[in-house]
Order: sequence, then C-alpha cells, then structure tokens
Amino acid sequence: MNPFSALFQPVSIGNMQLRNRIAMSAMTTNYGSADFEVTERLIAFHEARARGGAGLLTVEMCSVDVAQRYQPQALSLGDDRFIAGHRELVRRVHAQGSCVQPQISHPGPESMTDPVGPSVCVAAGTGWPCRALAEQELEPIMEQYAAAAVRAREAGYDGVELHAAHAYMLLGSFLSPQRNRRDDGYGGQTLETRSRLLLETIARIKRATGADFPLTLRISGHEGSFDGRELTETQRLAPKLVAAGVDCLQISGGVSHDRLVGQIVCGADTADGHNTAVAAAVRQVVSVPVMVVGRLHSPELSVQVVNEGRADIVMWARPLLADPELPEKLRNGRRAEVRECLSCQNCIDSMLLAPFDANMHCAVNGFSGREHSLRPVPVERRKRVVVIGAGTAGLEAARQCAGNGHEVILLERGPRSGGSLFLAATVHGANEPLLHYLRAEVQRLGVDLRLNTCADRAGVSALAPDAVIVATGARVAVADVPGGELPHVLQGPVLRQALAGRRQGLVGREPLWGWLARCLPAPFWRHLQPRHVRALARRWLPFGKRVCIVGDDLVALELAEFLQRLGRRVTLLTQAPVPALDVGPKRRQEQLARFDRLGGQVLAECAVRAITAVEVIFRCGEREGRLGADSVVLAGTPCSDATLASALQGAAAQVFSIGDCTGPGLIAGAVVDATHAACAIGRVYGES
Ligand SMILES: Cc1cc2nc3c(=O)[nH]c(=O)nc-3n(C[C@H](O)[C@H](O)[C@H](O)COP(=O)(O)O)c2cc1C
Ligand code: SF4
Repeated sequence: MNPFSALFQPVSIGNMQLRNRIAMSAMTTNYGSADFEVTERLIAFHEARARGGAGLLTVEMCSVDVAQRYQPQALSLGDDRFIAGHRELVRRVHAQGSCVQPQISHPGPESMTDPVGPSVCVAAGTGWPCRALAEQELEPIMEQYAAAAVRAREAGYDGVELHAAHAYMLLGSFLSPQRNRRDDGYGGQTLETRSRLLLETIARIKRATGADFPLTLRISGHEGSFDGRELTETQRLAPKLVAAGVDCLQISGGVSHDRLVGQIVCGADTADGHNTAVAAAVRQVVSVPVMVVGRLHSPELSVQVVNEGRADIVMWARPLLADPELPEKLRNGRRAEVRECLSCQNCIDSMLLAPFDANMHCAVNGFSGREHSLRPVPVERRKRVVVIGAGTAGLEAARQCAGNGHEVILLERGPRSGGSLFLAATVHGANEPLLHYLRAEVQRLGVDLRLNTCADRAGVSALAPDAVIVATGARVAVADVPGGELPHVLQGPVLRQALAGRRQGLVGREPLWGWLARCLPAPFWRHLQPRHVRALARRWLPFGKRVCIVGDDLVALELAEFLQRLGRRVTLLTQAPVPALDVGPKRRQEQLARFDRLGGQVLAECAVRAITAVEVIFRCGEREGRLGADSVVLAGTPCSDATLASALQGAAAQVFSIGDCTGPGLIAGAVVDATHAACAIGRVYGES
C-alpha cells in the first residue's frame, strides 16, 4: 500500500472538489508584467505544478486595487481588463486536473504606491510609513475586494483566497493588535473591533460572488510575538469567520514585519511543520476544512499530519518550486526520486537582490520560472555525452542528459561523486538531500560513472563523444601568508580534497590530514557520507579549542558555524564588510544569526598579515590586531578554472563549461548552467 495514500483522498472546499489534499501556497514570483498582467511565464509555471499533480494551486497575491502595487511585477484583479489573462491561466491549469484560486488582497501598508493601514506604521519591505485610513475610506475598499472576487469567478477560478495573515497587508494589519492602534469601530481595542473589517469584507465578497463560490481565508494561527494575536483568539474568531462565509481556513503563523519574512518563509533550523499544532487546535473549533502551511517539507510528516487529523489539506510552497512533480512522484511510489527543497532561501533572495528587475528562481530546479522559455531542443538520435566532474553541476547535467535519452559517461577524478557538494553537505546538513538525490538519480538513469578517472583531451576524444560538458569545479586560491605553512594551519583546498576523498593530493601536504589520508583505507574514503563526517567530528575533531577561519564566502561561514557548534571558539576573519556576500540577504542573515547565537565571532574588513604558532596577526584599517588561535583555516577564494575546458575545445560537436569552473555560482549557478547545457544537447524524440 502506498504510504502516502491519505494525501490522495479527495476533499472539498465548499463546492470545490480537489483530487487530493495537496495545495500549493501563494508565492509572489514577479513573473507578471509591469502592467499587472498574467504572462505566459506565469502560466507555464502554474501549468507545470498542475501537471505535477497538486490538487489546488494558489496564484500569488493579486491586488484588488490597480492603484496599489504590491511588488514590481505583481498581479491584480482590480480591473476587468485582467480577466482574460487569468482565464487563460485557469484554462491551462484545469486542463491538467488541478483546481486553482488566486490570493486577493489590498497591499495596505505593504503598497509600493500609496501605503495605507489601520494606523501609521512602517513597512519593512519598502521602509516607508503608511497613512492611517479614514473610516469612510473602508467602504470602497471592501467593494474592491468584492469586485476582485467577482472577476476571479468570471475568470473561471474555483474560489478565492483572502489574505489576512501575518499582521500583513490591509486585512492582516487591521486584525493584528501589533499594527491596529485606531480607536474607532474598526480599531485595535478588542477582537470584535479588529476583526470587523475582515468579517464585513467576507460578507461583502459572499454577497457579490454568491454563497457557493468557495472562500479560503489565510490567517496566522498565532502571531508569535509579544504584541501579536494569540491562538485562543483565533479559536474564538474562527467560528465567526465560518459563519460569515469562510469555506476553508488556511493556517500559517507569525508576523512578517522583518523584510526577510523570517517567521513565514522559515530557514533550515525551524522545526518541520511548525504550524501544525496550531492548525490542529483551530480545526477543533470549526467544521470546515483546515489547511496548514509552513515547512511541511517532509512528505512523511505531511501524510502524518493528515492521518492524525491535524489538518485536512497540506500546503507546500517551496517544495513545489524544488520539485513540481512531487505529488505525482508520491502517488506513483517514486518517493526516492523526489528533489527536496534545501531551505537555502535562494527563491526569496533572487527577488530581494535586485527588487526592480528580479524574478524568483529555485536553486535546485533550473526550470523553475523558466518553464516557458527553457526546453530541451528535440533531437533525432541518441548522443554520447561525456561529462567531466561529478560535483553538483556535473551530476545535474548527467542526470538531465540521461533523462533526455542520451548515453552519458561521467568522469570523476576522485574516488566518489559529490565534489564540493560533499563539503557543503557536511558543514550544512540541509544540503545533504541534494547530494543523495543526484547520486541516486544518475545511478537510476544508467549514467556510466567512472571514478578515479582523470580526463584529458586524448582520453575524452577516445570516447568519441557528441557532446562534452566540463564541470571540473573551481580552483581555490589561497593568499600567501607568512606562517601559512605551519602545522596548525589548514588550507581550504586541502580540506576540500580530503572531503572529496582525493588522498593523493594530501599526502605530504599537511601532517594531520596527510596522515589521515595515508592511514585510512580507500574504501573508507569511498563510502564516507557527510553524516558520517558529522558523527565522527562529534567524537574527534582535529582542531584546537580556538579556531580562526580566514575567508569571505558562504562556505567559510558555514564551516565557522559547523565548528562552533562542535564546541570550538571560532572567529571568522573576513576582508569583506560582511561575510557570505555570495548569497542573498535572507540566507546570509539566517546563517549569521545562527553563528551569532552559538557565540561565534566575526571580524569584518580585516586582512591577515601573519600566522604564528599561537596567534593570527591581522590589520583592520590602520589598526593591527592579534587573535589567539590553536588552529587556523585559510579558506581561500574559489576562482574560475578554464584549463581543461580550453584543452577540450573542438573535442566534440558541442562543448560546454558549466558550474564553478566558469566562476563560483554555488548550487544555484551549477544547476542552472547544467540545465542550459542539457537543453542545448536536447531530448531524443519519443523519450519521456
Ligand atoms: C518566493 C516566495 C514568495 C512568497 N510569496 C507569498 C505571497 O505572495 N503571499 C503569501 O501569502 N505568502 C507568500 N509566501 C509564503 C508561502 O506561501 C509559504 O507560507 C511559506 O513559504 C512557507 O511554506 P514552505 O515552507 O512550504 O515554503 C512566499 C514564499 C516564497 C518562498
Ligand atoms: S530556492 Fe532553495 S529554498 Fe527556495 S525552493 Fe529552491 S531549494 Fe527551496
């Protein structure tokens, strides 16, 4: 019996019948046009998730007022001219068997154009204060909500979702004591006054659309802050919401008053399914279905939530970015083929990095947001593809090319696959599922993986490839520092080589790691997994008590956190104003906060001058500093390395360089490069 069968029982929201209990949560993508229109890109994005089997898709926040913009390329249902675009989206989603509804909202304080709210407050996203709405302005806004819901119905949507969660946007702000400080009939004094705008809006929508048009309400079960709403309040309010016309309650949690939405789009250290207990408590007081959202990233936990009656429907946001086919894979007994979300936050960061020209992308799924433009070209015959380097980029390219019907030979000079992903998965365990997924997929798809094989032009040409993909990774440059050769100093490339299992490079390079390489037999290195290294490191770690890591990037910061967690006193010495500038602000902030909580120290804008047996001498501006250190890591800087790619030019009809050998790009860069190369090589006609 399928262990996930409970997820595939049909369920109804009002008269909306879902084929299963899996819903996709709203995600702002910035795939809309600058004029609020639905685009082909947005449609293709949703179509892919519908094809992947989700029962219900939520289309991202649609502003009920065209004069109120939420994001640079957000959507709107504030005018009849938008109906046609939404209708096409609905048609394409329905054709794949999913139900679909838009999230409708007035951005309120979060507006980029004319921020308004219950009282004056500053929106974290824009940094702008909003104006308090006069009571007589509320009536037309409720009308806008109702009109938007009617347009949604005309477009063919199966229902609408109303956003009143997170003390966010207009309804969420009125509902929360944190933001509602008015003292009129819609004011913050009591639950009755704070919920009045929401209840009247629900009634208005139901009157306009008809009672049979399903309405889902997104609400925080509790707001998780000292001046926010409590669960008991939601329990008191919920039956009134249902009486007003709500057909389904969607339980999220927290408030989103930091720009990085830390309580909503939670990082790797937040408990899985962190809103489920609260959802279960709300479910006890209502008769309508309850959905729950928030880090339900484990299918096993998701099915348990449904089995135990904690919620009727589970909502996934990021898991469906990472793997749109997730529901179908579970339904068909293909659990092992699921590509899991790493909670790396690239999806949020890709929008925060350049807010006026930024679209959402997923680090582990190169097609996410590119479904409309990126497809493998059709080819008539099976090609022989030689991929060199079995790190993230090489494994992903091999996986895709094999999946597209080609014969793939994957050459790896080390004794096992993974490359720098092994280090990334060791120091940050949330990365480990990607390593296992890629390894398992290349095996399942019949990729010919040749370990301990160094590639050169003659060897590659002898394989007579139609296409060559060079994915040999970065060269890690370490600056010459006086004392860098001392025995307690570990060079980044040595650490990487050790963890990649390339023993040859280690012997004689550095006493301790060289000794390890010599003494431990080859099978040990071959079968070593990141979790083994973590377990071993808890018992024995070749680092002194005080560790100084010299480095600027995410890897250096992750290593610092890893060692600090293992009881070392770690100082990260970085030349940059802040470490990990190679990732976006959300991931960086999460990583830094964890390191900080553990007691780690960052010294920014500091350059190392020398290392002695007992200390690191550095310079910060004009000032010289000294830091006691028993162990030092010179993490180094990854740089592009075109050596092999240059040597292989012309070795096949198609030659690609991908991943870090073209310049550091982390997992996201490696995956998207691999996707582009695999698409250019193409898919064999008739292959699935
Ligand atoms: C890229 C991105 C955009 C989001 N945009 C919205 C949004 O427009 N409206 C909303 O209510 N929630 C939004 N969210 C929050 C998600 O709906 C969801 O609550 C959150 O990601 C937690 O679920 P997950 O752990 O399954 O990702 C967004 C999340 C992500 C990752
Ligand atoms: S970008 Fe990272 S956090 Fe976002 S969905 Fe993809 S893997 Fe998950």
